[in-house]
Amino acid sequence: MNVDKGYVDMPIPAGIDLRQEILRLKRERGAVIMAHYYQRPEIQDLADYIGDSLALAQLAAKTDAPVIILCGVHFMGETAKILCPDKTVIVPDINAGCSLADSCPADEFERFVKAHPDHMVVSYVNTSAAVKALTDVVVTSGNARQIVEHLPQDAKIIFGPDRNLGNYISSITGREMLLWDGACHVHEQFSLAAILQLKKQYPHAKVLVHPECPKPVRMVADVVGSTQALLNSAVNDDATQFIVATESGILFEMRRRCPDKTFIAAPPEDGTCACNECNFMKLITLEKLYNSLKYMAPVIEVDSEVARLAVRPINRMLEMSRELGLIK
Ligand code: 13P
Ligand code: SF4
Repeated sequence: MNVDKGYVDMPIPAGIDLRQEILRLKRERGAVIMAHYYQRPEIQDLADYIGDSLALAQLAAKTDAPVIILCGVHFMGETAKILCPDKTVIVPDINAGCSLADSCPADEFERFVKAHPDHMVVSYVNTSAAVKALTDVVVTSGNARQIVEHLPQDAKIIFGPDRNLGNYISSITGREMLLWDGACHVHEQFSLAAILQLKKQYPHAKVLVHPECPKPVRMVADVVGSTQALLNSAVNDDATQFIVATESGILFEMRRRCPDKTFIAAPPEDGTCACNECNFMKLITLEKLYNSLKYMAPVIEVDSEVARLAVRPINRMLEMSRELGLIK
């Protein structure tokens, strides 16, 4: 078996029903399949659970299954492994990274943190385990506002790595924060001009925007929120048309939950496609999922000392989210 490429590179037996075989192997391994909303539709379709970053961390912390197949990106697998060190955690293609996490190398972040020793460190979950190990409390886009609001009023705050989310949280909480200068290559490139153009075409459409988007795009939003919050708005709002400025994978669940509503993917800056996709999320395919279950690879490992330090801010996030009524 060859995992040199970051996934199991073995041929798929001819004539098999891939879907059925994945479900059979899943039962045989006692595995649970979790998928982020940005995964390919066929992966979301097959998963036991789909959710945003907060839901996936919470599900990983709660599951009894000995094997977690995390169809998402590397930091999500790491978070699950840190929370469940005795379980086997597999991300079917380990190359599924994250440009936002990569924009915050741990050694540079450590220098930044050490230069401001009187600051609390709040890190977005889209970070490496090594960055989490330097953190006081982890947040996701689903709980960042409430957690920052809950920090002591006199606390000085470092927020990393997403400058757009940090800027947004600072603006709605009134808390000044030292921001790390990172960003996501997908959310950064939504075009304000193209969204305004779409609004002319669909004047009654509501604009749903993820807080990782830059301020000018957030300014035209009817709703700014995490992937789950945008989905909830799509389901609960009386509007029937929505322009969606986040990774286009979420449109699959929006359309499944609201078959009578219209969802339009906001276009990126260069206008070359009608959608915005995270190339890392889309690395996970049914073939790689099948092989990962068949060969139980590639597994996620986290250095034990890094994990010991990183588990505290993740658990703090989960505890605060429970206290604040954001999760059960
Ligand atoms: P949420 O799942 O927290 O909305 O985050 C979006 C994202 O970019 C995940 O990688
Ligand atoms: Fe990272 Fe952006 Fe992809 Fe989310 S959409 S996984 S933040 S690169």
